Amino acid sequence: MKLIVNADKNWAIGKGGDLIFPIPEDMKFFRETTKGKTVIMGRKTLESFPNGQPLKNRRNIVLSRKGGEFPEGVISVRSVEELEDAVSDIPEEELFVIGGAEIYRLLLNRCDEALITRVDAVCPDPDSYIPNFDELPDWVLAEQSEEKEHDGVAFRFCTYRRK
Ligand SMILES: NC(=O)c1ccc[n+]([C@@H]2O[C@H](COP(=O)([O-])OP(=O)(O)OC[C@H]3O[C@@H](n4cnc5c(N)ncnc54)[C@H](OP(=O)(O)O)[C@@H]3O)[C@@H](O)[C@H]2O)c1
Repeated sequence: MKLIVNADKNWAIGKGGDLIFPIPEDMKFFRETTKGKTVIMGRKTLESFPNGQPLKNRRNIVLSRKGGEFPEGVISVRSVEELEDAVSDIPEEELFVIGGAEIYRLLLNRCDEALITRVDAVCPDPDSYIPNFDELPDWVLAEQSEEKEHDGVAFRFCTYRRK
């Protein structure tokens, strides 16, 4: 299982349900990386998508303890145990945790790779964070792209791996 996320200098990932820095090249990377794969998300992240609809061309699994009605195309699970049942037949490398903060934290120990787009800027007043991967003892920065730029904001595609 891998996680994929876009984080600012301080490891902030969200503000009021929105991404902090929507960068077209990053969104393209996300689309291409997860296309045809299984994406795993929390109920609040699903609700942050346009009209609360699942992502096209992907198997969408949504974690929600309270459950309820979900749009067509969503597989909902109420616990990590139910999630494990739902993904038991899917190859590990096709499973992508796509947020948000609660679900990244919940499944961090289940992931062995983290695809993190590091944006070299600070989002004002963020409300969601991931841990600082440079300080996690079990994780190492394995690869990073050259520095890229969009609208005056620098960013890099970084791959962290579990040691
Ligand atoms: N930068 C990025 O790449 C990125 C990516 C995704 C999201 N985000 C941001 O992250 C923020 C949302 O994150 P969030 O932490 O507020 O919400 P979230 O992780 O998307 O969803 C939280 C919900 O997941 C369910 N849940 C949590 N633990 C569970 C468990 N053990 N079993 C079953 N269900 C469980 C609960 O749903 P119920 O309340 O229904 O029970 C909980 O309310 C937004 O600001 C969004 O923009 C950023």
